[in-house]
Amino acid sequence: MQVTLHGEKQHFRTVAFDEPANQVRLIDQRLLPHDFQVIGTPDFRATALAISDMLVRGAGAIGATAAYGLAQGARAFRGSNLTRFEAQVTRVFETLRDARPTAVDPVNAMLEVLCKMRAGATVAERQALALSAAEEFADEDVAHCRALGEVGAPLITEGMRVLTHCNAGWLAFVDIGSATAPLYAAQQQGRAFHVYCDETRPRSQGATLTAWELAQQGISHQIIADNAAGLLFARGQIDLVIVGSDRTLGLSGDVANKIGTYTKAVLAKRHGVPFYVAIPLSTLDWNLRNAADIPIEERDPAEVLGAWGLTDSGRREYVRVANPSSDAYNPGFDVTPPDLITGIITPVGIFRPGDLWPNRHLLRFRPAIP
Ligand code: MRU
Repeated sequence: MQVTLHGEKQHFRTVAFDEPANQVRLIDQRLLPHDFQVIGTPDFRATALAISDMLVRGAGAIGATAAYGLAQGARAFRGSNLTRFEAQVTRVFETLRDARPTAVDPVNAMLEVLCKMRAGATVAERQALALSAAEEFADEDVAHCRALGEVGAPLITEGMRVLTHCNAGWLAFVDIGSATAPLYAAQQQGRAFHVYCDETRPRSQGATLTAWELAQQGISHQIIADNAAGLLFARGQIDLVIVGSDRTLGLSGDVANKIGTYTKAVLAKRHGVPFYVAIPLSTLDWNLRNAADIPIEERDPAEVLGAWGLTDSGRREYVRVANPSSDAYNPGFDVTPPDLITGIITPVGIFRPGDLWPNRHLLRFRPAIP
């Protein structure tokens, strides 16, 4: 995506790999929108920490980061003993997998890398295959997001008012984004529309990241408090909802996404407003049968009890907002059931949630994880 920095347009991918340094290169999303910095993670443990600390976040972006992190860990191995190499690869896989539990993209991405590595007969061959497979995942993420734009753009008509939640934009992927892809494509096709960005407490990805992306892109938008959507729906000020997903069950059509998504889906149903979810194929989970089995990440209560912001002197600081003696409960995701979802936008078409399974072969069905 093009980012204007100090008056100059530059193209960035959210996640990339520095081969000579064996580092994963990431835009530090914790600093946005106030500061734009790209950092390199020195080893796979630092890469896992970047995922759990949410320096990089969003389903596709952490998928690509995990794929590169696996390659990074594999390439750091010294020696030619294949058994010891595979033990190291398993350690790296488990560390990256456990960094954040709800999104399925990291697991799907790393399974693809592992599968492609098997074609190598030596440590050196497997190391080279790991990196090329990670690059393929990242390129495919971009291609899928581009296709989401083509498939979803006709939903965005002139003058429409669109609500989105959290950040399923290019920062949440390698480029372009999922929920934002139809918006960017519709803009390119010359249509004007307005986007309401849910603030998305507790970490405010809507207010900080989506709003920053839309501003960079010159798309008309306003941030709304999470509690404001009901009023806007009731007044007929929202024509369409489009969100991303961290894990969509291919068997049932349930959609896990950032906490607060379910609330918006209920409101959309109540007011007869179409509710769409946009996903690349790496967000499909073909293994879990029940929504209740989706691991819901619980994060630090401090995220709810306070907020990060910029002081007048430009320093990034955390301030406590809540009553000092109170604790908080902070589940990071919720699950929207299929009956509240109008359609799931995929790179190969729009499906009703119940039609994912019958169309599984189009949607790159993967049998149970070995
Ligand atoms: O906790 P985050 O910011 O990593 O949450 C992920 C998300 O950005 C959202 O749930 C998003 O809508 C789906 S990821 C494309």
